[in-house]
Amino acid sequence: MHPSWCASFEVEFACLSFNQTSPVADQLPMTDRPIVFCIANQKGGVGKTTSAVNLAASLALSEHRTLLVDMDPQGNASSAFGISSPRVQIYDALLNEVPLERVAQETELEFLRVAPSGKDLVGAEIELVDRPERERKLAGCLAGLPPGYEFVIIDCPPSLGLLTLNALVAATRLLVPLQAEYYALEGLAHLLDTVERIRNSFNPALELEGILLTMFDARNNLGHQVAAEVRTHFGNRVFRTVIPRNVRLSEAPSFGKPAILYDAKSTGAQAYLQAASEILEKYDAAPAPSRDAALPDPKDASTDALEDASQSAAHSDSPTRPPEPWRSPRA
Ligand SMILES: Nc1ncnc2c1ncn2[C@@H]1O[C@H](COP(=O)(O)OP(=O)(O)OP(=O)(O)O)[C@@H](O)[C@H]1O
Ligand SMILES: [Mg+2]
Repeated sequence: MHPSWCASFEVEFACLSFNQTSPVADQLPMTDRPIVFCIANQKGGVGKTTSAVNLAASLALSEHRTLLVDMDPQGNASSAFGISSPRVQIYDALLNEVPLERVAQETELEFLRVAPSGKDLVGAEIELVDRPERERKLAGCLAGLPPGYEFVIIDCPPSLGLLTLNALVAATRLLVPLQAEYYALEGLAHLLDTVERIRNSFNPALELEGILLTMFDARNNLGHQVAAEVRTHFGNRVFRTVIPRNVRLSEAPSFGKPAILYDAKSTGAQAYLQAASEILEKYDAAPAPSRDAALPDPKDASTDALEDASQSAAHSDSPTRPPEPWRSPRA
């Protein structure tokens, strides 16, 4: 590894710690509890929110009941679904004991709900400091969810403060978006070191799900070098799918839509579908036959079928009634 763009020793140390854990591909026992992914990287602007939004949408499009939790006071994952100034928000679940299910809002995608954040969350980090079990607030909220959710995806802020700590304590799977650039691996070493401490102190169940290379520019030689280094160190913990730099991914949030509903044929939307199908491969979470929604399976569907699905979702009347609890998907 080239010493000038990577904290070599730290990364190797972090890899060693993680390689001693059981492989993430292990099948999980069938359970009514969702698999909880934390999407974190303390480095700003690396594609955390874009990954959280589009992975959540892709899982939901393949009929997996998914809850996206916005733990970032910037609220980008919420506005990506057109939610601004929510009446109840994740702050109320964390600090006012409002059930998370009441915070979750329906979206254009039948199988996706979003627990939005808002400006109140800015103060949460300070207000949580004096609370007992301050690092377990989000875990407590998730424990109170009714059965039926298969996946929870948590979008984190660009810091390793109390909000991210809550997400890492609540999750069993860490997904790290990594932009293939000069200093990427230095930040990764710090993140994995922090995660190792959290595993030892608060959440031994936390595993590295994978590293997702984002905003990849195939014309950039350095990007290829960094990607190769990441694969050398983390092997099959790096998603096979690489997310390309794609303008549709950056445009979609301003229309309040995930990329799959904005431009299903775009390389960005297709890449996130592919990354979601890698997740589904691991968890063998095949669509339950009893579900009514006639959404296509993105693994098989042609892009035309996906476009049809995105249009029908986009044109469906958005219900304003409060969400009903989902029935257990594995019942
Ligand atoms: N693959 C991509 N191609 C093009 N633009 C992208 C891609 N991924 C993300 N972007 C854009 O890059 C910017 C940063 O992405 P994003 O908000 O997802 O990062 P983040 O890690 O969540 O940032 P923050 O740390 O501020 O929360 C956004 O403007 C987003 O639209
Ligand atoms: Mg973000």
